[in-house]
Amino acid sequence: MRIIIAKDYKEMGKKAANIIASQMILKPESVIGFATGETPLGMYKELVDLYKAGSLDTSKITTFNLDEYYRLSHDNPQSYAYYMHENLFKHIHIELSRTHLPYGMCEDIEEECTHYEEKIKNAGGIDLQVLGIGRNGHIGFNEPDVKFEARTHMVELDQDTIEANARFFPSMEDVPKQAISMGIKTIMGARKILLMASGAEKARAIYDAIYGKITPELPASILQLHPDVTMVLEKEAASLLTIVQGKQTREFAV
Ligand code: PGA
Repeated sequence: MRIIIAKDYKEMGKKAANIIASQMILKPESVIGFATGETPLGMYKELVDLYKAGSLDTSKITTFNLDEYYRLSHDNPQSYAYYMHENLFKHIHIELSRTHLPYGMCEDIEEECTHYEEKIKNAGGIDLQVLGIGRNGHIGFNEPDVKFEARTHMVELDQDTIEANARFFPSMEDVPKQAISMGIKTIMGARKILLMASGAEKARAIYDAIYGKITPELPASILQLHPDVTMVLEKEAASLLTIVQGKQTREFAV
């Protein structure tokens, strides 16, 4: 596992964007798995800046997002489809038909999940999957006690996740309690994984994900078994890793 400690949020976004950009440069038809939430916002801005500077050809990539809220339509401003459009897709040259998110308004959940997995497979699998991490160690919406062998499926969100997400909604009642998420097996099938984390409230989950027991109680701990994981951590999120000292951006391997 490669760990990059960034001196602040902006640096974290830059480092992560550079990794994604280099994936696109080396393989312009890359399949990229994207994540939403507050953590990757700076990274998307950096990617858009790279695109606008003419440094990036995004026209041939295919994308799959980790998750989507159940029963939010793609034009709902709180949906992840809307987020992706606002923060990335509308700013770059990309075939919208090659961008994919689970469809929260689907009539048949089973069919939607199976179909999502098929689309990933037909695209040749995910080359690089971007992840955030929840305070409870979730990745995607794979909450503690998820089955490691799960593929895309319907999830009941943890109370902790519902509370963390409440900041994006007008009231607690409006926060969706269910979502469709890639499963751990889907995520582990990606050739490379890039996990980003920012803020002290993520420090415990990061420490446990790297050094703790591999257990469904901390879904991110499974990443210890993946052969190609890079974590780009803002220094507060890395503050429990004893190796962190000083203010410089640093890299090391565990
Ligand atoms: P956040 O969410 O980036 O908004 O903190 C990350 C996650 O829950 O995976």
